[in-house]
Amino acid sequence: MSNKTLLAIDVGSTSITAVIAKNNLDGKINILGTGTSKSEGINKGSITNIEVASKAIKNAVNIARGSTSEVIDSSVISISGAYTKGLRSLGSVNVPNGLITETEINQVMQMALYNATIIPEYEVVHVLPIFFKVDDSKDVENPLNMNGSRLEVAVYIVTAKRTALTNVKSALKQVGIELTNFVLDGYASAISLLDEQQNKFGATVINIGGTTTEFVSYKGSSIVYNGFIPVGSNHITNDLSVMLHTPPNAAETLKIKYGNLLKSNENEDLTIKKVKIPRIGDEQSTSEVSLDHIQTIIHARVEEILVLVKNKLKQSGIQENIGAGIVITGGMSQLSGIKELATKVFENTPIKISNPINIKNGYMNFDDPTMSTIVGLLFYGLDDNRTYELDSNKKLMKRAVKKEELTIPPVQKEEPVVKEEKLKEKINETLEKEDSTKLPTLSKKDKGKGMSRFWSKVSEWF
Ligand SMILES: Nc1ncnc2c1ncn2[C@@H]1O[C@H](COP(=O)(O)OP(=O)(O)OP(=O)(O)O)[C@@H](O)[C@H]1O
Ligand SMILES: [Mg+2]
Repeated sequence: MSNKTLLAIDVGSTSITAVIAKNNLDGKINILGTGTSKSEGINKGSITNIEVASKAIKNAVNIARGSTSEVIDSSVISISGAYTKGLRSLGSVNVPNGLITETEINQVMQMALYNATIIPEYEVVHVLPIFFKVDDSKDVENPLNMNGSRLEVAVYIVTAKRTALTNVKSALKQVGIELTNFVLDGYASAISLLDEQQNKFGATVINIGGTTTEFVSYKGSSIVYNGFIPVGSNHITNDLSVMLHTPPNAAETLKIKYGNLLKSNENEDLTIKKVKIPRIGDEQSTSEVSLDHIQTIIHARVEEILVLVKNKLKQSGIQENIGAGIVITGGMSQLSGIKELATKVFENTPIKISNPINIKNGYMNFDDPTMSTIVGLLFYGLDDNRTYELDSNKKLMKRAVKKEELTIPPVQKEEPVVKEEKLKEKINETLEKEDSTKLPTLSKKDKGKGMSRFWSKVSEWF
């Protein structure tokens, strides 16, 4: 178990949250300091002004630093799906001694990464094993200490645009933070929200924040799909402001106070119920608007967001494979009736509205849907009880792995296997498509033509 002191930063478009934490002796996460600041210089998941964004990050970090003198050993920061692309790959290596150690696990993961075609202006953020295969045993969750002569892996790779990552690094440098790891926002949410059953049967997490909606489908211990739409709860505020000619702060209050997606009870006529709102430009005077009108505007936007997500999931072919259903989180999940509307939009797929695992502490309430990402970052950085992964430094992560064990000789391409070439073609096709988060659907032709059963197994998952 690691006892390093971690700084986690969630860069949202509404607020920036910084948390300093380390593990207690009993392995529980101990929060040492927290800070939040209003988000500035960030829009729709991307840094739009480095100077301003750095200041906002600095504010949050300094507040957190104010309550602890611990030296920070490492840091993790969330990145938005706005500039990421996901792809799949396969790797296989021989096991010379017949016993699988972390050396072979690292090698096979590096091989899968090597086999993937990463577009030049993109950098690797995560390489996650969807499953391993040891000789003929498929679906191996953790191959460590298993006996076998060949180890194979199917991975999901998250890549992110280098320029966007450089902007985040520059903003952090101005604050004096050396970055350790980037973590995909949706992946962090999935880590903080999903339980064992949901992981096992597969679930999709939808995090609806201020200006972004991030979604990640998760199965086993890997992302199998990630997507993003640049729309969030601020759009509702904007719609209300524009359509009702009222200032944004009044529109935000209307949204929080009167937002309700449930059909009103028949005895209640919402067209009669009126609300007084200030007029834009002349805030002394007010106008009256019916509750029904307010709720219709809100309903239209939320329905649109959910339908957009549904369409993306449908295109990816993933929706049929998310056995445990959909988990909704993020600030907008607090809107009354969102569960019912989502159940309708997603055609009776089980819907759960969730807050992250509550880490008890004296500083900040984590039992809140806007905290999913930051809690996920803390687990990512401090909880070693997860599966293997190559992180954004392409280093193998897993329970207290000794550094020496991770230095692996450069991966050599062993027998150039046909299936890997085929896979490359597939991935290239994916990348050429404009919406590259969309995964390739496998044609029958591919399945039949010598792509091993291994690959067929992968296809079943999508
Ligand atoms: N009851 C509510 N109904 C609808 N929206 C709400 C409610 N409460 C908060 N919100 C909205 O949630 C948003 C903030 O959520 P969150 O903190 O998850 O966003 P963020 O992470 O900063 O943004 P992003 O993820 O888009 O970068 C704000 O737009 C706020 O108006
Ligand atoms: Mg967020």
